[in-house]
This record gives sequence, C-alpha cells and structure tokens, in this order.
Amino acid sequence: MMRIVILTGAGISAESGLGTFRDKDGLWTRYDLNDVATPQGFARNPRLVTEFYNARRANCAQAEPNAAHYALARLETALPGQVLIVTQNVDDLHQRAGARAVIQMHGALMSALCAACGHRWPAPPVMTETDPCPACAAPRTRPDVVWFGEVPYHMDTIADAVARAEIFAAIGTSGQVWPAAGFAAEARRAGAHCVELNLEPSEVSRAFHAHHYGPATQVVPAWVDTLLPT
Ligand code: APR
Repeated sequence: MMRIVILTGAGISAESGLGTFRDKDGLWTRYDLNDVATPQGFARNPRLVTEFYNARRANCAQAEPNAAHYALARLETALPGQVLIVTQNVDDLHQRAGARAVIQMHGALMSALCAACGHRWPAPPVMTETDPCPACAAPRTRPDVVWFGEVPYHMDTIADAVARAEIFAAIGTSGQVWPAAGFAAEARRAGAHCVELNLEPSEVSRAFHAHHYGPATQVVPAWVDTLLPT
C-alpha cells in the first residue's frame, strides 16, 4: 500500500542545474509556453518545439541527481512498496538516483511518441519531427511530454494513491498548475498528513499541515531522516 505519496516539481531539480519555470529567469520567462508547450505551438512550428526539447534533453543528460533525489530513493529502499513519487518533471533524475516507483504525469524527455499510432520509444538525443515511427513508419514523431491543454498521464493511478496516502508531501512545486496543485487538498480530505517542502510558500501552502522551507538538497534529506527507522 502506498503509504507515502510524494509530488515533485521543478524545484527538486533546480540544484541539479535544470532551472525551474516560474522563478526569476525561469523557462517561461525566456520562452512563450504557447509556442513550445502546447499542441497548437507544435502544429504551428514543429521544428522549434522539437529543438526546444532537444535542448532540454541535452541539459538533462548532462545534469546529475542531487541530494534530494537520492534521499527520496533512500526512503523508497528503506520502506519497500510504501513510497510513490509522482513527478511533474520530465527529467529522469529520480530514476537515475535509484527511485523505481516513479510516475511521470507530464511525460518524459527521454521518451518519444508517435502522434499517428501512439507508439513510444526511447528518444534519441536529437529528435526531428519527421523521424519515422519505429512501429508504423509515419513521420509523426513528437516529444512524449504532456503539453498545456493535454491530459496528464496515469491520473487514475495517482488519484487512487492520493486518496489512500497516510503522508502526502509536495517538493519543489509552485502549486500553480492543475491537476497536480489540487493533490494536497485531496490527500488532506482523505486524512493524510500533508507536508510542503519548498524554497518558499507555494500557491497552495494552506492545504498542508507542515512546511519545511529551504533548498531541497537540505530540507528533503532532513525530512526523509525523520521518516526512516533509526
Ligand atoms: N529547492 C526547493 N524548491 C525550489 C528550489 C530549490 N533549490 N528552487 C526553486 N524552488 C521552488 C520555487 O520556489 C517554486 O515554488 O520550486 C518551485 C518551482 O515552481 P515552477 O517553476 O512553477 O515549477 P513546477 O511547480 O514544477 O511547474 C509545474 O508547470 O510549466 C508546467 O509542466 C510544467 O511540470 C511543470 C508545471
């Protein structure tokens, strides 16, 4: 039973050098998300969008997991079968830190998707929108990332885990993007103890019982230590 459900956002990967979206000089202060993170933007200029994700995939490949990613992997190892990470991030740093029960609700940079037949395969370092699909050969390749206006992945599994959690934590997310921003209130209604770990209060801080503010590489390992059997 997934006793502990942990939602993560860009803030957990900030100290790995991947930046965030809405902080000062965040991604959405340098790109118009309508151009690079919507189906309409992709339809308008597939080359621009594909190159945007090629750049993010290259950054991700050069980044390393940080102490916060490793602390969550340690928690999962110490409490087998009781920890689920639901990440909004499309980087693979949780997995590279050793976490196994990870749901990427906004998709993954390291995955490619065929817009024609829905086939998925490991993304090449550099993708072009005319790459033929390995399954149906259609030249309809797109990043396997959930864009604004699209439905996040695995929502039924996530809703079930949130409803049954005893502890719900949110780490490094501003609480500005739904449905993820609503998970804390759902968990609280279902009786979970809710903890927010972030650099500063998020838009949904009041939904949490406890708050630990500071850099993730400091507050996450300290929090995990309080949960691990001594
Ligand atoms: N340690 C902990 N938290 C941090 C750190 C850090 N070193 N640096 C930044 N933060 C916090 C910020 O205070 C902010 O609250 O991380 C949060 C990042 O917020 P956003 O940039 O909005 O990122 P996120 O919440 O993950 O965005 C959600 O929006 O654009 C979409 O799909 C995209 O998954 C993304 C979603």
